[in-house]
Amino acid sequence: MKTILVTGGAGFIGSNFVYYMLRTHPNVRVVVLDALTYAGNLETLSPLLDNPRFRFVKGDITDRAAVENLFREEGFDAVVNFAAESHVDRSIDTPEIFLKTNILGTQVLLDACRKGGNIRFHQVSTDEVYGDLPLDRPDLFFTEETPIHTSSPYSASKAGADLLVQAYHRTYGANITISRCSNNYGPYHFPEKLIPLMITNAMEGKSLPVYGEGKNIRDWLYVKDHCSAIDLILQGGRIGEVYNIGGHNERSNLQVVKAILALLGKDESAITYVKDRPGHDLRYAIDPTKMRQELGWKPETTFETGLRQTVAWYQENRDWWEHVKSGAYLAYYKQHYGNT
Ligand code: NAD
Ligand code: DAU
Repeated sequence: MKTILVTGGAGFIGSNFVYYMLRTHPNVRVVVLDALTYAGNLETLSPLLDNPRFRFVKGDITDRAAVENLFREEGFDAVVNFAAESHVDRSIDTPEIFLKTNILGTQVLLDACRKGGNIRFHQVSTDEVYGDLPLDRPDLFFTEETPIHTSSPYSASKAGADLLVQAYHRTYGANITISRCSNNYGPYHFPEKLIPLMITNAMEGKSLPVYGEGKNIRDWLYVKDHCSAIDLILQGGRIGEVYNIGGHNERSNLQVVKAILALLGKDESAITYVKDRPGHDLRYAIDPTKMRQELGWKPETTFETGLRQTVAWYQENRDWWEHVKSGAYLAYYKQHYGNT
């Protein structure tokens, strides 16, 4: 049995990864370390709380003593770091917590891996570290060689963490890999991000706030395809390497919003154009050739199928997102674990 630490496993992608790993690897045990910030939701993991191959630990990756204790107790075989402040808009309002969690938290984990005997470490990064591409050059894509060129405090903090991970590899021989993925969507996506916000607002009869003219382009990937890519990198990725993950599913924000409304059978009158995001990146587009050629990865889910499945998931799991929007999910940890 191998034990993997998944930090940030109560968030969107981390929780999907936990379910993916437990389903596809019967010889894997997963420990989640998550601070349960506003973005962490223990309800998402509630079906696993009695599973002998699963353990949940509430804790902060920046808390060095707690992290080192956990590493000593568990003797991890690998660490996958999803824990982060992840929302660009919040980073514009309150940058400091992004630097603390995303950079200093990553450093604490790298040190713990080093102390633990060079434990395998995978950093979940983002295509946002490459900045943006122009809207009128559809021939351009981000490759692993594209220079780092960040726009928001969020992307700058993720880039800082990536550089630190690479520095630990070069200086201390750390056993690391990094993945940079495009925009994910799917189940358990916190409804402050574009797709779940638009789905749930439309279901509630609220307005759909599109920034600027809605022309910005994102490259969407169904979350399960991101999970399978990270799994392959853990199994066969070359140490010290960066891997870009994406599925060539570029859509403008307006196209995405209109597709959601069509799936819900609603007209477009609820769309409202609001003030643009400061420093708003124009276009993201990943070239995933390295993932395909080196690791044989390819996405399974087209955008049309994935969006249909996602809309259906939010229709079938109304309790989950209503608890998030009402704030009731924040009480779940206390209900389950008391005041510990
Ligand atoms: P999320 O905001 O949904 O989840 C983040 C999780 O980290 C939450 O459970 C939160 O409680 C936890 N967390 C935050 N600070 C912590 C701390 N100090 N200690 C321990 N836990 C802490 O984020 P997500 O969308 O699932 O993204 C996960 C990772 O993937 C992030 O590193 C993000 O940068 C990266 N990423 C996200 C996307 C995307 O489209 N969402 C795309 C590429 C990469
Ligand atoms: O590319 C990967 C990144 O994707 C991740 O690293 C981030 O963690 C993740 O949050 C996401 O960042 P974006 O800024 O692209 O995602 P967001 O859902 O916030 O916005 C997507 C696009 O939709 C963006 O162009 C802004 C726009 N938008 C967003 C919201 C929340 C709107 O027009 N209206 C909105 O209300």
